Amino acid sequence: MWRTAAAVRALARRPVWYGSRAAMASPSTPSNGPTPPSPAAAVAGAVAGAAAGAAAAEVATRVLPVRVTVTRSTLDAFDAAPADAASAAALQEAAETLRRGQTVAFPTETVYGLGADALSADATRRIFEAKCRPSDNPLIVHVASLAMVDGFATVPDAARPVLARFWPGPLTLLLPKRLGVVPDTVTCGLPTVAVRMPAHPVARYLIQLADTPIAAPSANLSGRPSPTTARHVAEDLSGRVPIILDGGAAQVGVESTVVDLLQNPPVLLRPGGVTYEQLRPLLPTLRVYRKDFVSAALEAQPTTPGMKYRHYSPEARVILLEPAATATNSKAPALDEAADRLRAAVLTELAALRAGTEPFAIVRTHARHAATLPDLVPWQGIEHAHSVAPPRGIDYVLGDVADPAAVAQGLFAALRDLDAAGVRAIVVEGISDAHEGLAVMNRLRKAASVVRTV
Ligand code: TXA
Ligand code: MG
Repeated sequence: MWRTAAAVRALARRPVWYGSRAAMASPSTPSNGPTPPSPAAAVAGAVAGAAAGAAAAEVATRVLPVRVTVTRSTLDAFDAAPADAASAAALQEAAETLRRGQTVAFPTETVYGLGADALSADATRRIFEAKCRPSDNPLIVHVASLAMVDGFATVPDAARPVLARFWPGPLTLLLPKRLGVVPDTVTCGLPTVAVRMPAHPVARYLIQLADTPIAAPSANLSGRPSPTTARHVAEDLSGRVPIILDGGAAQVGVESTVVDLLQNPPVLLRPGGVTYEQLRPLLPTLRVYRKDFVSAALEAQPTTPGMKYRHYSPEARVILLEPAATATNSKAPALDEAADRLRAAVLTELAALRAGTEPFAIVRTHARHAATLPDLVPWQGIEHAHSVAPPRGIDYVLGDVADPAAVAQGLFAALRDLDAAGVRAIVVEGISDAHEGLAVMNRLRKAASVVRTV
């Protein structure tokens, strides 16, 4: 039952000619809908719906460790150099690979990205093929400088103070695109292009070296949790991408925040690494999509934040225990009360799972319940999981609600590693929607087959 990483890779790579787009996701499978499909089914559905309509040809994948040392990083200037000869050679080769119109997976501070030359229709089409991404879901364009943005998009005055404060960093802005520069493969024919300047030294150095804007979605097979390590990328994309640059674990752990400043009032479309609380002083009228309002039109779209496609789904079914809204953002006694209700709900789930036969995990986010759950085996990392007999129940301490940034950082790794360990059901203690918790809960709601308000 505990699968090896190689077996997971084989599963992800298996050529699939069956299945349908409907198997992957549709508006009829909302976040609390039926059990999500397995990665193989996701590949099947995605391949059927992908741009090319066929799996990409198999390539040899190399994972190359890289380090970059930065001496100056501002919005306008980036002075950096590879930390050693091997990093220099790997980055040079990666930049040339991008310039030749091929794909490269690389680290960013949020999650790993699967990059290609944003100005080439052929190159960006390869991203959709490698990920099995539906062709109507547009990509984010990554830049190393503001001058690079000017080549393909215009920056409205309202965006300038926001960029000055949060770039480089985990914030993506929708900008009006210049006509005829960025191909429709990237923007899916929309009048706007999503742009961000990553803060990760390797990402920014690579883009600067390639000397072209780089389109990059998260480097996972479409529908799977985003990768936060090079190993996660290899699990999904081995044989599908020539180079994976390994720059260590992503610091933020969830994707960038996507903001549409072209609407008045501005809209936070996807919560991410830059929090609502951080944006609010600059954008006092900012509205959070799904929290402050919903729109049937947006829900039906493939773009952020639509539910048209399933996201972040591990193979195991995710049961999300969500603290009732009244319990969030309130004073300490109410938080204690919420934590106690969560504990009771965990014990109820535990009783049900123990009555079954499947391996399962409880993912915990409330340190005040520090004691190990009865009869569960504490999680000791994926390497350990591969080397021992599978326990029936795993106790996975993800972090504490008081430090939502740490919960965000470890979230996708938890979902992926528990999957790789062969777990079939994952019960997750939800956290409050405050700060990074908004992004965490957004991803969990989309990953979950069952959401129980407790
Ligand atoms: O942190 C991140 O943003 C990572 C790293 C690699 O930079 N990238 C990432 O890309 O998360 P992706 O493709 O997984 O998510 C991009 C989101 C998608 O939901 C897409 O629909 C949305 O941005 N998007 C792109 N262009 C858009 C546009 N013009 N209008 C609305 N949404 C757009
Ligand atoms: Mg993604």
